[in-house]
Amino acid sequence: MLRQPPHHLLACPTCQADTNNGFTPEQQNCTACGQQFFDLQGMPCWFDVGLAQQQLWESLYALAIKSGQNNLERNRQRNLSDMLPSSVKRIHNMDAVNNSIVEAMDVLLNDMGLNKTVHPEFANYDPSRMLQYFELLLRDWAWDGAQHQAESENARELERISAAHKAIDKPLGDTWVIGAGAGRLSADIHHHLKPSHTIALDTNPVLISCAHRLVAQQKPWQLPEIHPGPQLGIPLTKVWPMNAPSYTNMDTWYAVAGNAWRPPLKQHSFDTLITPWFMDVNGREVRDLIGQVQKYLKPGGVWINTGPLLYGPDITDMHRYSHEEIIELLEVAGFEVIYQNKVQSPYLDTPLSEEKRIEQIWTFAAVAPSEFPPTYADINPPAWIVLPHLPIPTNQTFNTHGNPVLEHLVAQVNGTTCINDIADIMRPNLGEDKNPLEVVRGAFLEYLLK
Ligand SMILES: C[S@@+](CC[C@H](N)C(=O)[O-])C[C@H]1O[C@@H](n2cnc3c(N)ncnc32)[C@H](O)[C@@H]1O
Repeated sequence: MLRQPPHHLLACPTCQADTNNGFTPEQQNCTACGQQFFDLQGMPCWFDVGLAQQQLWESLYALAIKSGQNNLERNRQRNLSDMLPSSVKRIHNMDAVNNSIVEAMDVLLNDMGLNKTVHPEFANYDPSRMLQYFELLLRDWAWDGAQHQAESENARELERISAAHKAIDKPLGDTWVIGAGAGRLSADIHHHLKPSHTIALDTNPVLISCAHRLVAQQKPWQLPEIHPGPQLGIPLTKVWPMNAPSYTNMDTWYAVAGNAWRPPLKQHSFDTLITPWFMDVNGREVRDLIGQVQKYLKPGGVWINTGPLLYGPDITDMHRYSHEEIIELLEVAGFEVIYQNKVQSPYLDTPLSEEKRIEQIWTFAAVAPSEFPPTYADINPPAWIVLPHLPIPTNQTFNTHGNPVLEHLVAQVNGTTCINDIADIMRPNLGEDKNPLEVVRGAFLEYLLK
């Protein structure tokens, strides 16, 4: 049965039609734009590209299993004749566990009903990204059982969110956890802090399928782990049983596969947005995330962010904002930051190792402006240039220099349009190599505001 979130939170990820205007979750299609979507074992997989996402996943699944089997086959060809019998035993054990990992992935995705088929258009894709966050599966659903409660990263993460929630002092309401990964935090929040609905959204098929399987389907799984570095007195490998704790009230928690930048969700419909360990690794820069959060929160809604700032390699130096800059950006966007906390916490602290990685975790809660547009901070350049999702005010004077293109740009300004909207209008007229946002921003900065 399709586990679809309530209609008031949903919209077509392709054209943004809501359920009154063409998006039909029950049929998994949109009559407004003609897009067709799919589910896996009742988990909505609603991407803006529709069924192409299913073909992509089927291809990645087939390629990942093939690559795992090829590696195992290569290992079997190794010459171990100069190795000690104890070394040979270790190597064979590692091969067997690697084989079990491939089998476990196969079980997970096969049970979700995904076909293992390489579609020609995706034949050259790299499947390794699917396993990029492998340890999160174990951290979320396995290691707690072998740890003292005080060592549980999951318990600490819930405590951080609970403290931010306490500072907000109002119910979480309809909540979207963006980049929910393997789903543990979203499920713990749902069980303990009782939002009315929780949407746990992630784009990674392995992570979100695991969340759906353990929480919604309550179907156990098992996953082996190999620790790459030997530790004295600790086994190198272990097969972990994977179970969700006994949660209650989970019929209003939903795992949804989707893209945070084009989600199947309705704008301005959420009371709370939570971004755990997402701000620095979502493929875009922080200002875009602020815009996206503001777009999906109700006026006066709450954003809770937690995690480090360890920007991915795709983020240039220019966009590696400091904590202070992010707070300033939030204020420019009209948010009121009501809570901040900083702690050092172990990260991916497996019981198979006595070495620890410690990260600095920054948590904040910020309240979105209750009116949109917010008041404009007196900054230079103007707020709507710095944050291109903010409406361009109509009382602004523009100098078009008699240029028809610049006049066309200014004609779009009506008090609600923003630089992002104008960039979307200009997109079809610009070459592939041009970034519409930069072109439009540049036109305002270099000509219209001079
Ligand atoms: C560092 S992990 C954190 C996962 C989880 N929040 C946690 O704390 O364990 C970042 C997550 O963001 C997800 N992600 C990145 N970009 C995304 C996007 N555009 N849409 C949805 N999820 C995304 C990744 O798949 C990954 O699960």
